[in-house]
Amino acid sequence: MPRRDHIGGWSQGLEIILTRRALITGITGQDGTYLARHLLAAGYDVYGMVRGQNSPSARCGRQVHPDVRLVNGDLMDQSSLISAVDRVRPDEIYNLGALSYVPTSWRQPNTTAEITGTGVVRMLEAVRIVAGITSSRTPGPSRPRFYQASSSEMFGKVRETPQNELTPFHPRSPYGVAKVFGHYTVQNYRESYGMYAVSGMLFNHESPIRGPEFVTRKVSLGAAAVKLGLRDSLRLGNLMAERDWGFAGDYVRGMSMMLAQDEPDDYVLGTGIAHSVRELVELAFAHVDLDWRDHVVLDEALQRPAEVDLLCADATKAQQRLGWKPTVYFEELVGMMVDSDLRLLSGPQCSEGGVIRELADLW
Ligand code: NAP
Ligand code: GDD
Repeated sequence: MPRRDHIGGWSQGLEIILTRRALITGITGQDGTYLARHLLAAGYDVYGMVRGQNSPSARCGRQVHPDVRLVNGDLMDQSSLISAVDRVRPDEIYNLGALSYVPTSWRQPNTTAEITGTGVVRMLEAVRIVAGITSSRTPGPSRPRFYQASSSEMFGKVRETPQNELTPFHPRSPYGVAKVFGHYTVQNYRESYGMYAVSGMLFNHESPIRGPEFVTRKVSLGAAAVKLGLRDSLRLGNLMAERDWGFAGDYVRGMSMMLAQDEPDDYVLGTGIAHSVRELVELAFAHVDLDWRDHVVLDEALQRPAEVDLLCADATKAQQRLGWKPTVYFEELVGMMVDSDLRLLSGPQCSEGGVIRELADLW
């Protein structure tokens, strides 16, 4: 049953009942895909922003949900964002677009700052300009709701464990620095213009459609590939790093809950349990009855210039105020990902070698 509501701001108070409209940047990514599914199921009209002919994902043939309407826009380009927001007139904007792979941020620090950092200013400016929000701190009738994908990478060299909304930031990568900039920009637009803008400080969340460069997917693909005899080994970097890994489907539900509150605020989402990369590898290989020590090769080149050793969430605020809690934990998540990759690598796509070739390049 579609959820119908009074149009939030764009109709200037007209008593028209319309389906709520969401605009998602980063629609081709993991979270964009899960969030679109979640909002479509809740009855939203969902628009996804794509980089048109320059989108690498479009080139790789990743499919966006057929019910998502696409608009062109690039976080590097202010005019395109104003046009996209003006065209869609969304009630809710989810800014998920980013250069999100941490190692790339050392190789391309300027591009990371532009997309992951300044891109947030551009999106907020697009919303502010199209909604006609001025420097007055009194919000006008037009008050679209803005979600920013902040990250636990902002905590970096952590000052306390577990980390909550008040834990100081100490980013360790150009990506983390750019996310801190975006986070404070959201806070500033909330305080300067009375905008309904929130940041979700999300800990690592994964799924069977996680990008193959991230460690969970690299390991689930690696374990499946070794099991099927497609590869002998898997090269990895730091096995000692610990992360709080949850399931992406749970986290996009949290994003939507944050925008449903009366007042805007920032929230940490995570499971509250940390595991090491070594535990991840052990579990994934054990899932296919293999001993990881026979197949994993340590590669110094995969160590990072500055590492984030341990991330573990204290999501008490989200649990108490939003009623959010995860439904999938580490063991189930890893099993789900390995099983999915066993199916993927046994399927017809792989007989053509596409997936494996793509991975061989990355690994
Ligand atoms: P992802 O799979 O890497 O997706 C990133 C998305 O950003 C892609 O759709 C990509 O589009 C888009 N993008 C890249 N450059 C862009 C540009 N110049 N203009 C517009 N879009 C651009 O990331 P994810 O895992 O879904 O994460 C979503 C967001 O949450 C990101 O901001 C990430 O930093 C943040 N985050 C993720 C996690 C996590 O564990 N997954 C945790 C905390 C925060 P193309 O297809 O065109 O490249
Ligand atoms: N990717 C990768 N590849 N990571 C490895 C490898 C490897 O071969 N070997 C060890 N690791 C370690 C990394 O050094 C890091 O400590 C940990 O595995 C997790 O790496 P990623 O999966 O690449 O994720 P991340 O924690 O750096 O970043 C992800 O989570 C952030 C939230 O904390 C990304 O999704 C970010 O966009 C997100 O903000």
